Amino acid sequence: MTDPLLFTPLSLRSLELPHRGWVSPMCQYSCEPGDAEGVPTDWHLVHLGSFATGGAALILTEAAAVNAAGRISPRDAGIYNDAQAASWRRITDFVHNNSSAKIGIQLAHAGRKASTYWPFSGRTGSVATPDGGWETVGPSPVAFDGYAAPREMTGDDVQAVITDFRSAALRAVDAGFDTVEIHGAHGYLLHQFQSALINRRSDSWGGDEEGRNRLMLAVVDAVRGAIPDGMPLLLRISATDWADGGVDLDASVRLAAQAAERGVDLIDVSSGGAVAHQSIRPGPGYQTAFAASIREHAGVATGTVGMITTAEQAEHILVSGQADGVFLARAALRDPHWWLRAGVELGFSQDWLPQYQRAYPRGAY
Ligand SMILES: Cc1cc2nc3c(=O)[nH]c(=O)nc-3n(C[C@H](O)[C@H](O)[C@H](O)COP(=O)(O)O)c2cc1C
Repeated sequence: MTDPLLFTPLSLRSLELPHRGWVSPMCQYSCEPGDAEGVPTDWHLVHLGSFATGGAALILTEAAAVNAAGRISPRDAGIYNDAQAASWRRITDFVHNNSSAKIGIQLAHAGRKASTYWPFSGRTGSVATPDGGWETVGPSPVAFDGYAAPREMTGDDVQAVITDFRSAALRAVDAGFDTVEIHGAHGYLLHQFQSALINRRSDSWGGDEEGRNRLMLAVVDAVRGAIPDGMPLLLRISATDWADGGVDLDASVRLAAQAAERGVDLIDVSSGGAVAHQSIRPGPGYQTAFAASIREHAGVATGTVGMITTAEQAEHILVSGQADGVFLARAALRDPHWWLRAGVELGFSQDWLPQYQRAYPRGAY
């Protein structure tokens, strides 16, 4: 019997992933405010470490801000100073010393969706500056519904953000990450430049599709140039804005092909987040067709995400050629050992970590 495709390795450049079941980035809003701003905590170690002990092959961290203004909330993680990098190193060391999993970091800037309340405070919307918020920036002074309007970025601001992505990538390499993902989705800064629903600029960072994609691709170049040749680069995009006049699948195929030419090895295909008025109906695997189209028409490896919950569903996606890997978010929170169970369910006898071997189900599961 052949092994399930979910449990076959995948090589991206010189990184060998033991299989194709991965963890999608998930903000934990669990950094301490104040002096330790943006520094991952014990929470992050246990949260991310549990996916390593649970058999995931690739673990992506939550969105890590490339500068302080790029944090979604005051409790977000960052990778813009040495204390943050040192704390990430503790986590990458744990993963590497205790499992065969690989770990990547998602580099992000929230743009006009930054400086929002800590979600666990029960409040929503933008934090005013006297209450610890900060000025947000974006391509144009257009607010996301219910948020403060951002300041329109100057050309110098744009160049500074590109440099911040590069510096963050250098820190990520030093911190021991195996790969880096650029967050170009969900209505955050790079997507804000990409979407005509948000970007009203008439300079070279806006206007037509080429101008609107320029920042995303400049960041790809900057990060690609900062990481070793053998390290794969991932790019998360929103394949559609689910709104008239916004990003659509055809535009995403074109962007993905250009990103691949510039050294992106896998497109992590998500959707939405640019505007509040989205015409979307989520359901099982609702974004997988986008990953399939991009894989076919842009000729680049894809990861798919979105309401994928069972081992059979993941195996079907891979066997039917829709994607090269499967990201889980909420299903992984529900069961951090999802991949151990998935192996058993698909009849694949994988090596469990020695600490867990006595729990391996030898008869009926
Ligand atoms: C708690 C939580 C935090 C999230 N944070 C991020 C994030 O930091 N970056 C990102 O790209 N997506 C983020 N997402 C979106 C997930 O990565 C994923 O794309 C989405 O939840 C759909 O997958 P699912 O149906 O498996 O949950 C988050 C989702 C959840 C549930």
